[in-house]
Amino acid sequence: MIKSQNPRTHSSDTAEVIVLGAGPAGLVLGNLLLASGVDCLVVERADREQVQTRARAGFLAANTVRILDRHGLADGLHRHGREHAVCEFRTEDGRFRLDYGALGLGERHTVYPQQELVRDLLTRYLDAGGRISFGTEAVAVVGAETLRPTVTVHDTDGRPARWQARYVAGCDGRHGAARRSLPTCAVRRHHRDHGVSWLGLLAEAPPSLDAVGYAVHGRGFAGHMARTPEVTRYYLQCERGEAADAWSEQRIWDELALRMRSSEYGELHRGPIVQRTVVDLESDVLEPLRYGSLLLAGDAASLLSPSAAKGANLAVLEAELLAEALVDDLRRGDGTALDHYSARCLAHIWRAQAFSHWMIRLLHGPSGSDPDSLFHNSLRRSRVESLRVSRSQQDWFAEQYVGV
Ligand code: APR
Repeated sequence: MIKSQNPRTHSSDTAEVIVLGAGPAGLVLGNLLLASGVDCLVVERADREQVQTRARAGFLAANTVRILDRHGLADGLHRHGREHAVCEFRTEDGRFRLDYGALGLGERHTVYPQQELVRDLLTRYLDAGGRISFGTEAVAVVGAETLRPTVTVHDTDGRPARWQARYVAGCDGRHGAARRSLPTCAVRRHHRDHGVSWLGLLAEAPPSLDAVGYAVHGRGFAGHMARTPEVTRYYLQCERGEAADAWSEQRIWDELALRMRSSEYGELHRGPIVQRTVVDLESDVLEPLRYGSLLLAGDAASLLSPSAAKGANLAVLEAELLAEALVDDLRRGDGTALDHYSARCLAHIWRAQAFSHWMIRLLHGPSGSDPDSLFHNSLRRSRVESLRVSRSQQDWFAEQYVGV
């Protein structure tokens, strides 16, 4: 049992705030709470190595960089991240590029692999004396409607334990203990399956374009996103339910070449596929994001498809809002920001969902030749054409694409 040192918390409390999950949301929150002298404990079921090497997102919005800068958490991304501001669309009607850094609010992304960001956040948290329990599975949050919720866990040796706090922050993702512990009557869940699946790939090959590549093809969507000078993320639209390992490397590269129209626009740099997962494009939003002393952030709060590269950026934004609100309450006895936390996050979440939904309809069209498919494909081609020729559409796109 880990004893808390802070006089404000109840003597048997484990911490003032227990943070479930050591992803971008949980670690930004942990760092900010620690910096404000709030006694917190991060509970993470994976071990440190897994947390620091899990390759996922990597496109940081300008606002995310501002937040990390504000709290002195951006050294790594300034040293190793690379600015990014160009999209290239390849469709049956040709190819065009958008320098979105010169459009909209003139903001750019920073390409910095998520596992590097997580490593930075974890190192900073531990160097600052932060507490984290790796290899500890949170099972449930009990008594969230009270002032002293309990987190039941299986500790590193698999033994059950009960840890108490004034607040619990659920940053443990969509399938975590926090979401599971919410009474269904207390929340509304907005779930939408967009009926599209992507084979997500990481290739040990240099990027083939100096841009995010979006290719729309009768055989399905293909995407190209740089991660580092040696590693590139690709996406290939695939059949629902298809297994990731059903694709041979040869078939992957041949299909990417076909859909990216390499014969017209240049060969792709090939290399070993080092990671592959099938992602069903879904939206999953919970409302409200607070149930008494339990508050959600990151994927635990909302999930959106990777089509808009918003997940990690929302997670960081929500973590900062939650940290500020918890510090206000715990240090100044002012619960106003906590009362508004859910509504403030949901405004950003629905904006991101709306853009993600628009991107899905921009990048995917039914492949049939039936009247309905032809109708929707004509709509899709017209959306792409508007983006190609309309400055106001391009400004809107840039603002939504980089904004959170
Ligand atoms: N107990 C303890 N830890 C848990 C549990 C549990 N029951 N369930 C999940 N976790 C841990 C996971 O191991 C993971 O480290 O919670 C963490 C959740 O981290 P992320 O999935 O990275 O979620 P979040 O911080 O919300 O960031 C979400 O980052 O990866 C991008 O695009 C992705 O949108 C996503 C964003």
